[in-house]
Amino acid sequence: MEFTGAHILSINQFERADIERIFAVADSMEPYALRRKVTRVLEGAILGNMFFEPSTRTRVSFGAAFNLLGGEVRETTGFESSAIAKGESLYDTARVLSGYSDVICMRHPMSGSVAEFAEASRVPVLNGGDGSNEHPTQALLDLYTIRQELFDKGRNIDGLRIAMIGDLKHGRTVHSLCKLLCLFNNIQVTLVSPNELAMPENVVDMLREAGHEVIISDDLTRGISSVDIAYSTRIQEERFSSKDEADLYRGRFRLNQSIYTKFCEPNTVIMHPLPRDSREDANELDNDLNQNPNLAIFRQADNGVLVRMALFALVLDVVDQVDKYSRDVNWYSGR
Ligand code: NCD
Repeated sequence: MEFTGAHILSINQFERADIERIFAVADSMEPYALRRKVTRVLEGAILGNMFFEPSTRTRVSFGAAFNLLGGEVRETTGFESSAIAKGESLYDTARVLSGYSDVICMRHPMSGSVAEFAEASRVPVLNGGDGSNEHPTQALLDLYTIRQELFDKGRNIDGLRIAMIGDLKHGRTVHSLCKLLCLFNNIQVTLVSPNELAMPENVVDMLREAGHEVIISDDLTRGISSVDIAYSTRIQEERFSSKDEADLYRGRFRLNQSIYTKFCEPNTVIMHPLPRDSREDANELDNDLNQNPNLAIFRQADNGVLVRMALFALVLDVVDQVDKYSRDVNWYSGR
């Protein structure tokens, strides 16, 4: 695909070569993300960071990625602080805000809303999550992490065995990740969820059409027993009609160190898009896994900065200039 000026809305827009390009650019961002070097390549550029749903990692890492490239960030968070609360349409908001920014990142609770916004925008729009539909940049950082974790074990993405666990119906991260895996070969995907929270059929069909093996199960211990990656997810309580309904499923698939030791192959990598629900009645990834070297959740979150820097550099067409505008940092950097 042509990245310059493009919106990043869905995994469907990518081919495998595009993913390899994004990952190669993300690799080249490491000295900046690790604060060994600074670059001013986006000096003067403005990111409009618009988050209409709660977010910590996605919002802050988009902002940090833009800052690390030398640009500035303007944030709008929550409907109540935006004119959308006065009835303004997405179209008008997009026409106005795209006049104030060079690129926009947006999260919104409605499926398809970010694409609708992008149609009216005069600058590239990156989807930070639209309802239960997609979260393409999360899938990219997830796969970037998987590639890194497997590389350390002398493997690559083709031939991967992965279990996805939890609320696969509403979880946009796993929808995008499955679509992304369709660009690779010979993947085994085990989908572990209560029947009512199963992966949407169109996503399962896509995996099968790509030639992948799909195993559907509601048994955590069997599901995680022969995989390279166990990818846990949170019950998306905000997408249920009531908290009581979400409570029916909370805590159903808890993974802790003793279950890991008993049922997982040695060195199975544990992932989660975060936030993990650490309340007692949920505790989907127990804190006793924190010392497990295969718990990749914080490496995953760190990788979000690299991947988002790469996307900004690609859509704003500065990949070849990043180093030209760089220098070593002045301060102590212990990383
Ligand atoms: C996820 C999301 O918002 O879809 N979080 C994230 O962006 N890392 C997952 C979640 O909220 O459960």
